[in-house]
Amino acid sequence: MEKILVIGANGQIGSELVLALSAQHGADSVIASDIGSNVHDAAQYEQLDVLDAARMEQLIARHQVTQVYQLAAMLSVTSEQAPVKAWTLNMDGLLNILEIARERGQAGMPLRIFWPSSIAAFGPNTPAVNTPQTTIMDPVTMYGISKLAGERLCDYYFHKFGVDVRSIRYPGIISYKSPPGGGTTDYAIAIFHAAVQRDCYRCYLGPDTTLPMMYMPDAIRATTLLMDAPAAQIGVRSSYNVAGVSFSPSELAQAIRRVLPQFEIRYAPDERQVIAASWPQSLDDSCARADWNWQPQVDLEQMTADMLKNIAAQKAIPLTVGTEVRACVI
Ligand code: SER
Repeated sequence: MEKILVIGANGQIGSELVLALSAQHGADSVIASDIGSNVHDAAQYEQLDVLDAARMEQLIARHQVTQVYQLAAMLSVTSEQAPVKAWTLNMDGLLNILEIARERGQAGMPLRIFWPSSIAAFGPNTPAVNTPQTTIMDPVTMYGISKLAGERLCDYYFHKFGVDVRSIRYPGIISYKSPPGGGTTDYAIAIFHAAVQRDCYRCYLGPDTTLPMMYMPDAIRATTLLMDAPAAQIGVRSSYNVAGVSFSPSELAQAIRRVLPQFEIRYAPDERQVIAASWPQSLDDSCARADWNWQPQVDLEQMTADMLKNIAAQKAIPLTVGTEVRACVI
């Protein structure tokens, strides 16, 4: 029986991953953990700071954990506000789990690890369209630098010590259940909340800033597909490109207008525009498709309809066409 520890279980991806893994393996098999309290009422919960390697090791031993999803990290915007803290959290959190996996592997108790990389690991000299799996990587943010270094650590621990670590370069993840925190791609969630509330949306990226994105159900499916694949099929041990949908703020606004024709957007690019401009616009994910049968299922129209419907239900605001929009102040 698998015993799965999800670290960062209160976050945007972690909270939904705990539910998906519980449905797949049974709630008895999944232990949620985060630095704070059990905000999502997980059936099994342990408080854990990723920087506390001793407690991480204790929890893994006590619960006889076989798989760890290490999702605790600071995202791109918050990392720029506190770069040294971001480096420490993002790197030491990964190194702690890799070291525990190395030691347990040597003692005959192997751990399978998932660790997320990001499109932020690429940089301004990376080919931006259909970005290849292996290419120039010159990230300009502390977040991206930590992700690129993390990818190299994963590859190193696999080749040197046989640690079964697997990773995905997540695009911007779009979801409605838990809010994201401090990412450059967060506009693509905030825009839906504004649209449902009949607020004009003030976008901090320019209208033509195309970025790779993915709807949460596809992201969860990619993650569990990769983790369930036989080890022999995993040809990439740094991190896989996975593509969902690519769009710009103006294309997303148009998709929203097809449901809510009165929706309005204004553009006021800020420092996040510089970060976004250094990232790819679309990804070549042929390695993930060939190695573990990855295929996205959700397109822009389906995602837009589902986001609007669910956020409207959450806020108890009907999606009635023709309602006035509050004036844009910029
Ligand atoms: N969504 C992340 C961010 O914007 C990218 O990995 O920081």
